[in-house]
Amino acid sequence: MTSLNQDAARAAKFVGLSADTITFHGGQPLDGRIEVRGAKNFVTKAMVASLLGETPSVLRNVPDISDVRVVGGLLDVHGVKIERDVEGGVLHLDPSAVKSAHMAEINAHAGSSRIPILFCGPLLHQLGEAFIPDLGGCRIGDRPIDFHLSALRSFGAVVDKLPEGIRLTAPDGLRGTKIHLDYPSVGATEQVLLTAVRAQGATELTNAATEPEIMDLINVLQKMGAVISVDADRVIRIEGVDRLEGYDHRSLFDRNEAASWAAAALATRGDIFVGGARQPEMLTFLNVFRKAGGIFEVADDGIRFRHPGCDLKPVVIETDVHPGFMTDWQQPLVVALTQAPGVSIVHETVYEQRFGFTDALVKMGATIELHRECLGGQKCRFGQRNFIHSAVISGPTQMHGADIEVPDLRGGFSHLIAALMADGVSRVSNVGIIARGYENFLQKLKTLGADFTVES
Ligand code: EPU
Repeated sequence: MTSLNQDAARAAKFVGLSADTITFHGGQPLDGRIEVRGAKNFVTKAMVASLLGETPSVLRNVPDISDVRVVGGLLDVHGVKIERDVEGGVLHLDPSAVKSAHMAEINAHAGSSRIPILFCGPLLHQLGEAFIPDLGGCRIGDRPIDFHLSALRSFGAVVDKLPEGIRLTAPDGLRGTKIHLDYPSVGATEQVLLTAVRAQGATELTNAATEPEIMDLINVLQKMGAVISVDADRVIRIEGVDRLEGYDHRSLFDRNEAASWAAAALATRGDIFVGGARQPEMLTFLNVFRKAGGIFEVADDGIRFRHPGCDLKPVVIETDVHPGFMTDWQQPLVVALTQAPGVSIVHETVYEQRFGFTDALVKMGATIELHRECLGGQKCRFGQRNFIHSAVISGPTQMHGADIEVPDLRGGFSHLIAALMADGVSRVSNVGIIARGYENFLQKLKTLGADFTVES
């Protein structure tokens, strides 16, 4: 696994950032219009799905983020021919020469990405074997892969743990099966979908995740020829087919990025029109944004988010799987909540360790206390287990500039907002990580009037 700094440097290099530290002069409202393109957490999975097709696929509305480049590199070492129109956001993926890759090659391309695990099903179908390196992703908890391996075993895969990673084979092919997830994991649901579509017979997945990004993956797989139904109560049924074709698909927008810019408008007393954002996928976020005092207006081509011009209001949030409040929305919003008079509470129920980013906010003057207890209406699986997973934010507090280091993707974006909101100068290092999931974020910040210099 690569280190945090290596990841940041690599992500920065991918998107042409000359340096990894940025100096911000805070205190200006962010004002203007920016566009969001396809969802990181869908696009990367749709790229993997192209491995299953007998013919080439075309993916549209693809953002220029380093995670897309990482998955592109992984597909490339597996023999997928990729043509990319970065500006137009179009990827052509031709899997006609898919081949096995060596663990070292996979490791070299994967960096800290967790996507390689989703290659397993498609590669087992196409080649009869798959390798996965030691997996990374954001440092926001343990992030085990037990659901993935247990699902793959249930399809008939044989899993061998090697010193450098994991090797999977399917000596008798993959067969449809019944799988129940102990928790509606996004990745494990995608794993089951990508494996079941070409397994022999029917698969029933209970307690599945149903995030919009998963529904869009189901759209892609259906276009390819898969037979998938989504029933009420988190049940997904898949009838395996012998052959899948390529797809032509336009990605849904990145609702996590849209929510981040919305929170930036609220925190900096700004006014941001997020082109490409849509209401249905953001319903839960919009309710909380309104309860916190934010004002939004939904248009055909995006959503305008703005500060009310008066005091914000404290809110109580519990993160949850869809249709709940997404875990990826809490970090940027916490920055805005430091400005709301009164006490806000955030109970994180998806990841056990996702408040590391608040250390920097406290250093900048925020009053945030972290607790082991479940401070929401529901008891979650982290209660009684010593995980610090509830935050109490008391506001308003005047934030001041500081030297801070980006810990992970969403926490990193929240640090940018904090630096822009604070009085004085902040130096934010490790910003390359933000390029994993936020397209052209520095260009967008400039468009919105942010005052910063990139250290060279
Ligand atoms: N989990 C297990 N075992 C498993 C898999 C998951 O215990 O085998 C647990 C995790 O530890 C976690 C919970 O289940 O506590 C939820 O994890 P999930 O599998 O749903 O998350 P993921 O697929 O690894 C994706 C996104 C995350 C997003 C989550 C939740 C991608 C690449 N990542 O992660 O996005 O927070 O779903 O919606 O799609 C981000 O974009 O910054 C990000 C972290």
